[in-house]
Amino acid sequence: MVDKLRAHKRSLVISRRDSFNDCVNHSTTPVIFSLKNEIGGLARALDVFRENNVNVVHIESRKPRRQDSEYEIYVDCEDGDGDIQELMSLLKNHIDVINIPDSDGSDGASAEVILSEIPWFPHKIQDLDRSANRVLQYGSELDADHPGFKDKEYRERRRYFSDIGYSYKYGESIPRVEYNKKETETWGTVFRELTRLYPTHACREYLANLQVLRDECGYREDNIPQLQDVSNFLKARTGFQVRPVAGYLSSRDFLAGLAFRVFHCTQYIRHSSDPFYTPEPDCCHELLGHVPLLADKSFAQFSQEIGLCSLGASDEEVQKLATCYFFTVEFGLCKQDGRTRAYGAGLLSSIGELKHALTDRAVVKPFDPKETSQEECIITSFQNCYYISGSFEEAKEKMREFASTIKRPFAVRYNPYTQSVEVLSNVHRIADVVNELKGDLNTLSEALRNYSRRGRHWSNNH
Ligand SMILES: [Fe+2]
Repeated sequence: MVDKLRAHKRSLVISRRDSFNDCVNHSTTPVIFSLKNEIGGLARALDVFRENNVNVVHIESRKPRRQDSEYEIYVDCEDGDGDIQELMSLLKNHIDVINIPDSDGSDGASAEVILSEIPWFPHKIQDLDRSANRVLQYGSELDADHPGFKDKEYRERRRYFSDIGYSYKYGESIPRVEYNKKETETWGTVFRELTRLYPTHACREYLANLQVLRDECGYREDNIPQLQDVSNFLKARTGFQVRPVAGYLSSRDFLAGLAFRVFHCTQYIRHSSDPFYTPEPDCCHELLGHVPLLADKSFAQFSQEIGLCSLGASDEEVQKLATCYFFTVEFGLCKQDGRTRAYGAGLLSSIGELKHALTDRAVVKPFDPKETSQEECIITSFQNCYYISGSFEEAKEKMREFASTIKRPFAVRYNPYTQSVEVLSNVHRIADVVNELKGDLNTLSEALRNYSRRGRHWSNNH
């Protein structure tokens, strides 16, 4: 059906209104779309409703209110088995324009948003299958200056890992890899050197989670952990999961994964000729740098919030978010017990830079997204400067403030039950969220009542 939608993408304009005319009743949902005049256009549009099992009980046409549409169709859909939200979501993936109603329920022409100007973004976790293979660099091919370029065996191995990444689909088990002796030795060298530094260089959340990973996921000098085991572990701790990826993704595609608590993770390892250097993220970087903190609730939420901010944002805004991500999640420092500690994965997976960042030679500034987002990201050598936060909570609050300055004509919310992103573009959606929040607020006020009863009981008896 998606293909069918794509086929008439340019002819379909749809909106969902709070009110259109008097025939709206409480057991139906009105949907308005406009079509360009072409043979079969209306039939194809109505097919989309039929295929989603949405019963259309009323249909009428009206003169267009948009200049570039030729006629507009109002349909009244019965609230029943069909999933109108799903239908809207699918249509929105493939249309050019959407009208968002004004808050008073009027026609909403003043709030018109041109969706063609909003970059595509995944709405459901399964949609990541579409973006995970848009690898920019180092998929199955290596550049001439890559340490493994002339090593035939290594290149074959990289092709093997690329195939896993490219063929992986959401929901599948990640294939277990039998790492060879050379690969395990390379991992062992990196693991040994880094774990010597961690007690004096890594933040306490990292240290605590690394110990659990040693106990539960086979983090050892002589063993490269399996991605599926790591994914199961994270899922149980913070709801994060990993999916194998063949190489670098664009900032937009990578950050979009975080919105769904999905971490795109490489499975190959750096070339054995220099265990302390890699021109690209490899499994040492992912497993030792990122995974321990993805198991921390607060950090996981921080990562997801950056991801959610990126959905549908302009290229310029995504670039700013990616830079903030770089100087926090990759190269961030924090203060703990009066000492500077590293929490960034780029630092925690690089022996040389981890040592450097905690010396007096490193330039360290307070994390301030507005300033940090303008900083230059250095890939080939140490950073010019590092950014420090008091805690993940502090970094999260600053990022939230920063996110509110990003111009986006809608808000998004992650629904963990459906593993999808809800676009809060009309009052129906917002009302749904308010209803869900009411349930949470009831639970919280009951907990508070219980707490204060217990508090009174305690103070009366002591
Ligand atoms: Fe990374």
